[in-house]
Amino acid sequence: MPLDDLDKWVAEIQKEIDEEEIKRYNKYIVELFQNPKNWGKPKDNEISVWYAYEGFCGDTMQFFLKINKEIIEKINFITDGCGATVAAGSQITIILEGQTLEFAEKLQPIDIDNALGGLPEDHKHCAELAVTTIKRAIEKYKFQNS
Ligand code: FES
Repeated sequence: MPLDDLDKWVAEIQKEIDEEEIKRYNKYIVELFQNPKNWGKPKDNEISVWYAYEGFCGDTMQFFLKINKEIIEKINFITDGCGATVAAGSQITIILEGQTLEFAEKLQPIDIDNALGGLPEDHKHCAELAVTTIKRAIEKYKFQNS
């Protein structure tokens, strides 16, 4: 198969995969897991606290927070979880950057689910993993700074 035809074939397959994922999730979720926001571990001097947590499905998530006077100045994450988990982690970073710890502590999985436009039933727990991890990170920070 000539290279041009191969490229076209790969692009078509990718398009079909994307369309299937958009049907199963939605366009916003697929965009977030293809291009996650605030992904990756920052430099050590940009981290006030980090926390890793494993959900019941075995997927893990880590958050890295830079906190100054109770304000989350910077928030990053990584996960080895599914696309919905990547989207949930991204959404948390979008919501919490610049917010107070008090605001973050009130966050519920349904808030993330709603902000994402609704996760499929079998992926609701991805929002729970993300919210549980961020709350544990804040608990750890408060414990270390009490
Ligand atoms: Fe378990 Fe997404 S499938 S966190």
